[in-house]
Amino acid sequence: MRILLTGGCGFIGSHTALALLEAGHEPVLLDNFDNSRRSVAGRLAAIAGRPLTVIEGDVRDTALVRAALSDHRIDAVIHFAGLKAVAESVARPLDYYANNVGGLLSLLEAMDAADVRTIVFSSSATVYGEPLCLPIAEDHPTGAINPYGQGKLICETILTDLARAERPWRVSILRYFNPVGAHPSGLIGEEPTGMPNNLMPLVIRAAGGKLDLLSIYGTDYPTADGTAVRDYIHVVDLAEGHVAALEALGRGERFGVYNLGTGQGSSVKQLLAAFNGATGVNVPQAAAPRRPGDVAAIYASTDKAGRELGWKAKRGLNEMCADSWRFAKRNDGAEE
Ligand code: UD1
Repeated sequence: MRILLTGGCGFIGSHTALALLEAGHEPVLLDNFDNSRRSVAGRLAAIAGRPLTVIEGDVRDTALVRAALSDHRIDAVIHFAGLKAVAESVARPLDYYANNVGGLLSLLEAMDAADVRTIVFSSSATVYGEPLCLPIAEDHPTGAINPYGQGKLICETILTDLARAERPWRVSILRYFNPVGAHPSGLIGEEPTGMPNNLMPLVIRAAGGKLDLLSIYGTDYPTADGTAVRDYIHVVDLAEGHVAALEALGRGERFGVYNLGTGQGSSVKQLLAAFNGATGVNVPQAAAPRRPGDVAAIYASTDKAGRELGWKAKRGLNEMCADSWRFAKRNDGAEE
C-alpha cells in the first residue's frame, strides 16, 4: 500500500516509515517541521538505502493534502501530526484544538475529496484519565483532564462517528502508552526541538550533563518503590503496531481501538536502574514533589491488539534505554 504519514518526520512517524518499508509498503511523509528536523529525511534515506518522498506542509492546508493524496496515489493515511505537550495545552488550549482537532478535520476533508477513506490515528493512553483498574483495557471509561487529552477524545469521537455513518471509512485508533527508545542504527530517535517534558529525553539530558539532575516527580505514590509507574514501549515495537493496524484495515476491518503498550509497568526508579544497567551511566537524580495531573500507575492490557492485530511488543526496558542512549551519543550537538 501507498501510505501518507502526517508528521512523518517526527519521532514515531519516522520509525513507522521504516517499519512500513520493511513490510513492503511505500511511505510518503508530510511534515511542517514544527517539532521535527529536516535532517530526518537524509537519515531515513541512509537507513533505507534510497530517498523517501517528503512533502513540507501543514495538515491544515486542505488543498495541499488533497493534492498530495492524488499525486502520490495514496491508499491510506497514518495521522501523527499534532502538538503533544500537556502543560502547554493548558496554557494555550486554542492552539491545541486548532492543530489537533482542526488538523484532523482538514485532513478528513482532503481524504474524502480524494476518495481515500482509510486512516490510522495516533491517540494516547491519556484518554483514560485516572485508571479505575489495571491493566487498563480499551473498554475502560474515558475522561481526559486537560485540553491535549480532550482533543484526542474529540478526534476519537469524530472518527468513531465516521466509521459508523459512512460505510466506506475504515478507522483504526491507536492509544499509545509511553514511547521511548530509538532505531538501532542510532540515526533516528526522539529530538524534541524545545525543552523536553517527557521522562526519557530528560534522563538523556541529565545523563549527558546537559541537565544538573533528573527530578523524580513524586516518591510517595502507592507503588512498590513510591515512584510513578508507566508502560514504556520501544518506538520500533510501536511502529510495527501501526503496520499491523494498517494491514488489519487492508484485510477488511472497519473500525478498531487498540492499546499499544507492553503490558508491563515500570516505575521511574526502575527505569533509571535499567538505564544505568544498559549504559553504565549513573543519572544524577533527586526526589521532587509530584507533578500536577500525573496518575500513580497506568499500564496497558495488550490482549486485544494481540488477538485482533497479531501484534505484541518484543523489546524490553534495557533495549529501550540502550537504543535511546546510542542515538543521543551519536547525535550529541547535531542540529538540522
Ligand atoms: C505524558 C502526558 C501524556 C502524553 C505523554 C506523551 C501528562 C500528565 N501526561 O505522559 O498525556 O500522551 O506524555 O507525550 O503530562 N517524570 C519524572 N521526572 C521528569 C519527567 C517525568 O519523574 O523529569 C515522571 C512522571 O511523573 C511520570 C513518568 O516520569 O510518572 C513519565 O512521564 P512522561 O514521560 O511525561 O509521560 P506521562 O506523564 O506518562
